[in-house]
Amino acid sequence: MIKNIVVLTGAGISAESGIPVFRSETGLWEQERVEDVATYDGFLRDKAKVHGFYNKMRLSLADKQANPAHLALTRLQREWQSGKVTIVTQNIDNLHEKAQSKDVIHMHGELMSLRCERCDYAGFFDGESSVESVCPACGHKGCMRPDIVWFGETPYEMGVIEEHLSQCNLFLSIGTSGVVYPAAGFCRFAKAVGAQCVEFNLEPSAVGSSFDYGLYGKASETLPAFVEHLLSTGELLRP
Ligand code: APR
Repeated sequence: MIKNIVVLTGAGISAESGIPVFRSETGLWEQERVEDVATYDGFLRDKAKVHGFYNKMRLSLADKQANPAHLALTRLQREWQSGKVTIVTQNIDNLHEKAQSKDVIHMHGELMSLRCERCDYAGFFDGESSVESVCPACGHKGCMRPDIVWFGETPYEMGVIEEHLSQCNLFLSIGTSGVVYPAAGFCRFAKAVGAQCVEFNLEPSAVGSSFDYGLYGKASETLPAFVEHLLSTGELLRP
């Protein structure tokens, strides 16, 4: 019987809301070099550029809305009676929050947050940051960075995530290419504790063969149907 559910989301769940994915012909990593804008060394080389890159992404969220896939997860979280539904996202956007999902774990950080390198304060931020930004906690200038987990840095809340994974009976992975670890290893972790694992993507991901099965198509269509079936029958919808 299914009790606890862990959901991992990636850029694909937000694609239909108009937020570009990272890896595709028109993806973000075709336009910017990862080394320049998604590593700490890149930040040290050109802080103004990196602030500017994330400012643009942050401002672009203003008119983006949650889509039926985000809303389906909120419904699952609200209506699932048999256990917990934990949402872990690799996304730095705020669409799970706009959909009113609760306690979303942003393992790769958040655009709507800045962090102080000096005192480690991190908090909500919806403006434009710069090398001149002042920390609201320690008052120092020039020590704020985007609150994003860059390549080579440790994702947030890994202990909490592993705790949830170790207690889940069902693991759902939605819209992620399965090439970035540790998230790409969550399916294997969940399988090892006996969970059923289902992937939602346009096509099998790099770790697609680790899943019990996949539902391939737009997440805005496959996920609401899956959630409806799960809530009404307690059973998994299969292809
Ligand atoms: N429905 C379902 N899946 C989709 C949809 C859609 N409408 N549109 C795209 N996808 C799938 C693609 O097929 C692809 O497998 O979403 C996936 C997006 O993959 P990536 O761009 O690699 O995004 P993600 O897996 O979230 O990236 C992981 O890499 O660059 C880092 O930190 C960044 O969190 C990010 C991490």
